[in-house]
Amino acid sequence: MKYDFDKIIERRNTHSEKWDGIYEKFGTNDLLPMWEADLDFFTAPCIKEAVTKRAEHAVYGYTIREDSFFESIINWQNRRNNWKIEKEWIRNSTGTIPAVSVAVNAFTKPGDKVIIQDPVYYRFFDSITLNGRHVVHNTMIYENGKYFIDFDDLKKQVDSRVKMLVLCNPQNPVGKVFTKEELIKLGEFCLENDIIIVSDEIYSDNIFSGHKHIPIASLSKELEMTTVTLFGPGKGFNLSGLKPTIITIANPKLREEYDFVSQAMQIMLKNTFSIEAIEAAYNCGEEWLDECNKYLEKNRDFMIEYIDNNVPGVKIIKPEGTYIAWLDFNNLGMTDKELEKFAIEKIKIGFKYGYTFGNGGSGFQRINFGCPQSMLLDGLQRIEKAVKNL
Ligand SMILES: Cc1ncc(COP(=O)(O)O)c(C=O)c1O
Repeated sequence: MKYDFDKIIERRNTHSEKWDGIYEKFGTNDLLPMWEADLDFFTAPCIKEAVTKRAEHAVYGYTIREDSFFESIINWQNRRNNWKIEKEWIRNSTGTIPAVSVAVNAFTKPGDKVIIQDPVYYRFFDSITLNGRHVVHNTMIYENGKYFIDFDDLKKQVDSRVKMLVLCNPQNPVGKVFTKEELIKLGEFCLENDIIIVSDEIYSDNIFSGHKHIPIASLSKELEMTTVTLFGPGKGFNLSGLKPTIITIANPKLREEYDFVSQAMQIMLKNTFSIEAIEAAYNCGEEWLDECNKYLEKNRDFMIEYIDNNVPGVKIIKPEGTYIAWLDFNNLGMTDKELEKFAIEKIKIGFKYGYTFGNGGSGFQRINFGCPQSMLLDGLQRIEKAVKNL
C-alpha cells in the first residue's frame, strides 16, 4: 500500500470529540473510543497540501466558490456514481444535519410527518421533532443478520400529513448499501404518495466489494425532481470537522424553497478550508480513497471473523459500506442501562449506544472500525475478555 493506515496517530489535544471528549461523554478516561464516526487516519496527502498551502497564506477572509469548485463536485458524481448533476443544483451548508433541518422547514409544515427508517442516525430525530414535525418510524425488518425495508408498514403508515422521507444510504448504523431494486421500490412509493426524499448519502464514498452506491435521484428524472441529495467528502476523506457538506436539488421549485429557509437561517457555506479540501479531495484524492476502502474492508472482515470465532453470544451485522458496524448484544440478556455500564466498566470501550438510534436499537452497540488494525484488535480483545468473564 502506498499510504500507511497502520500508523497509530496521537489525536489527543487536537480538540477531537472522539479522543478529547471521552471523559465528558463516558465519565472516565480509561476507555478506547470507538463511538464517534471519524477515521483515525491522516487524510489524503494532497488534501493536507491544499489546506496547508491555504493556511500559509494567513488571510482567512470571506470566500466565493469558483467554477473549479463546482466542476470537481460534478466530475466526482459522474465518475464515481455515473450521475450527471449541474452547477445550478449545488448548495453547501455547515453540515449535513443542518441541511436536513433546512429541508424539514422548507418542505413541510408544523404538524406534518416525516418518515425515517430506524435504527438510524439519531440526529435525524432532532431535525424533525425540534422543528415541530412528527417522526414516522418505518422500522426496518431485522432477519437472519440482515436489514430490509418494511414496505407493508410504509403503506400502513402513510397518510396526507406524511410529506417527507429521510433516507440514509449507506445506512448508519447497520452499514447497509441499498440495492437498485430496493431504491426503485421505495422511490415509486414516494412518487405515488407525493413524498419528498431527502437522501443522506454522506457515507457513499465508503462502499465494499460486491456493492454499489446508487444515488436514488439518479434512478429516474421523476426521482431527480423530488429528491434532495446530501453528500460530501467528510466521511470518506476524514474531513468532517471542516463541515464540507454538499447538497443537490434538481427541481427549481424545491431549490427556491430550500434557499429561502437557508437564507433565513444564514447557514450557507463560506468556510475557507472546506472549499480547498472539497476541491482537493475530488480532484486528487481518489487513489487514497480506494486504498483506504481496501483497508477498511480488511478491517471489516477481520472484525467479523474475530467476533464470530471468539465472542460467544455477540453477533455482528456485516457492513456493506461505511466504517461502522452494528453489534448485537441481545443474547447477553442485559437491559440497555446494564449494557451501557458493562461497555464502560468491563469492556472499556466507548461505543455509540444502540438505543439512541430509535426503534430496533435496544441491545445493540455501534462500533467504529475506521482505525489501524492493531487498535481494532485491542478493541476486539476487550470485548472478548469482558464477555468471557461474564
Ligand atoms: C448518516 C449521517 N449523516 C450525517 C452525519 C453528520 O454529518 P455532519 O457532521 O456533516 O452534520 C453523520 C455523522 O456521523 C451521519 O452518520
